[in-house]
Parts: sequence; structure tokens; C-alpha cells
Amino acid sequence: MKILGIETSCDETAAAVVENGVVILSNQIASQVEIHARYGGIVPEVASRQHILTIIPIIKQAIAKAKVTWNDLDGIAVTIGPGLAGSLLVGVNVAKAIAMAHDLPIIGMNHLEGHIYANWLIDATPDSAPVFPLVCLIVSGGHSDLILMKEHQDYTLLGRTRDDAAGEAFDKAARILGLGYPGGPAIEQAARSGTASIPLPRAWLKGTNDFSFSGIKTALRRLVEEDKITSKADAAASFQEAVADVLVTKTVAAAREYRVKQILLAGGVAANGFLRQSLMTNSSLPVLIPPLKLCTDNASMIASCGYYRFQAGKIDGLDLDVVPNLKLA
Ligand code: KG4
Ligand code: ZN
Repeated sequence: MKILGIETSCDETAAAVVENGVVILSNQIASQVEIHARYGGIVPEVASRQHILTIIPIIKQAIAKAKVTWNDLDGIAVTIGPGLAGSLLVGVNVAKAIAMAHDLPIIGMNHLEGHIYANWLIDATPDSAPVFPLVCLIVSGGHSDLILMKEHQDYTLLGRTRDDAAGEAFDKAARILGLGYPGGPAIEQAARSGTASIPLPRAWLKGTNDFSFSGIKTALRRLVEEDKITSKADAAASFQEAVADVLVTKTVAAAREYRVKQILLAGGVAANGFLRQSLMTNSSLPVLIPPLKLCTDNASMIASCGYYRFQAGKIDGLDLDVVPNLKLA
């Protein structure tokens, strides 16, 4: 069974064809990062205009690269939220037009659920698929959610950030240190030549599985304002270690509390090498993490997740609409 995935929730225009939920036949992504970099962040109006320009060529590329025709496809999975309304609308309307023209079923997708399914793609787990029950830490630009997953489509929210998302914290810290945009890769790069020698506060929020990153960010800003940062590399390394410490410690503790079999990491911040290594080192349970290119936004994760929803009969109608603040659990 072959599903076309379409993803336009933020600043990547992406389309992919995935077979049986696990084999990537194509995975095309047009990034807008350079366009938004000059503004230091995503400009929603610019993002949706760019999606309009790029979506059709990207879908055509995905079909051509997969060496399939429209007749070979069994369904279309498209992200309906969470994300920027104007950006989501482009993907959803194109998906509806294609579904109508080619008489294909359409499946409305949660972007965060998609991130989790990057772990089902064969690229990510060549030897084995994830095993339930599991705990998944989703860390992206807009979310830091700790999710208990007992089955496909069965999600319980264990914890979430009370202020900044992990990716947002990386982006803000990079801005404070003058390291550029997007902040996550910039911090990781700078941290390579530094040591985590600057003490930064960790918010443990004991007794909960919630996170908070605004205190670390504020502490960093104060050090910069007081001219106490002598090495940006050391500051980046210290910040990265503080964020990873909290994420890893709380995820491992939740996995133990809920007696799960595995830990999954997902979302753009899962591309961070220090976080990946730290989670693998500190967990006695198997840890699954997608390869770098499947951590950040892409459409193969949407197509994979769409396959499992399709198998469960969760198909939508052509009245499908965007839900910018869609929740997973
Ligand atoms: O999942 P994603 O591509 O988009 C959203 O759904 O938000 O995540 C983007 C976030 C950004 O905040 C970016 O700075 C962060 O992921 N990110 C990283 C790294 N690569 C991307 N954070 C830390 N280290 C990285 N290597
Ligand atoms: Zn994302």
C-alpha cells in the first residue's frame, strides 16, 4: 500500500511516498530556512506564499522519484495541525484537490504524531519496529511533550513544557548569544569547541513530568547582559547540557514509572547529537531515534503515520479543515 504524504505546517514544503508505512520511496523537502533567516525567525505570511510556489513541483518530484503513477497510490495523508494556519491551508487544499481529481481517500494528520512515526521508517529502524508500550519524547520548535503510547493511535500526555518548547529555547538562546538562526544547529555547532563550564539552572518541577526552559534562557540572558560570558562556545555547551540533562533525566524516570519497553525520541531537537548520545547513555531501555534527516520536518513521517491511520479505518472526508492548535492527547 502506497501513501502520498504532504507536509506544510511550518517552513518546509514536503511531499513523500511511503510503502506499507515503513519504506521510503521518495522524500522531497523544500526548505525556506534561508528566506526566513534574514528576519531571524519564521514570517507566517512569507511561509504560506512560499508553500504556494513550491508545493506542486515538490509533489511532482515525490511522485517521479518514487517511480509511481497516481493510479499506484492508495491514499493521501496531509498535516492539518498543529502549525501555522496559512501554511497548513496550502497543503490541505492541494491534498483535497488531488484526492478529488484521482478519487483517493484523504487522511488528516497530526504533525506531532507524524514526528513519532519517523521511528517506524526503515531508515530509522532497519532491524526492528518500535515495541509498545513506549514513552516518546517529542521535542520540536513548538512542543516538548512526553507521551505514553500503548498502541497505534493510543496516546496519553504524561508531561509538557509549561513555557518555552525545547527547540524554541535553543532558538532564543542562539539569538541571545548572537549565533544566528535556526538556533538549534547553531548552538550544537558552537558547543563543539566549548566546555559546559558555566552553571545554569535546571527546572526539575519535581512530582510532575512537565518541563520549563524559560529559567535557563533568562539566566543566560542575564549573564550576557552583565558581560560575564567570555566564551560563546562554553555558553552554548553549557546551555545544551542543561537542556539535555532535564529532558533525559525526566524521560528516563517516566519510562521507569510507566514500565515501558522502549524510549523513542522525535522532533527537530532529536537531531541534536549531544541529546541523542546522552539519552542512549543514560537509559537502560532500548532507545530509538530517527536518523538526522527524518528528525526535522518531512513528509515521509506523515505518510508513515497516515498508513497506520488508514489501516485503522480513520479516513476523512473532503470537508477536512486545518486545526492550527490541534492536540495529540
Ligand atoms: O520538528 P521541527 O523541524 O519543526 C517543528 O515542528 O517545530 O523542529 C524545529 C526545531 C527548531 O527549534 C530548531 O532549532 C530545532 O528543532 N533543531 C535543533 C537541531 N536541529 C533542529 N535543536 C538542537 N539541535 C539541533 N541539531
Ligand atoms: Zn515538526
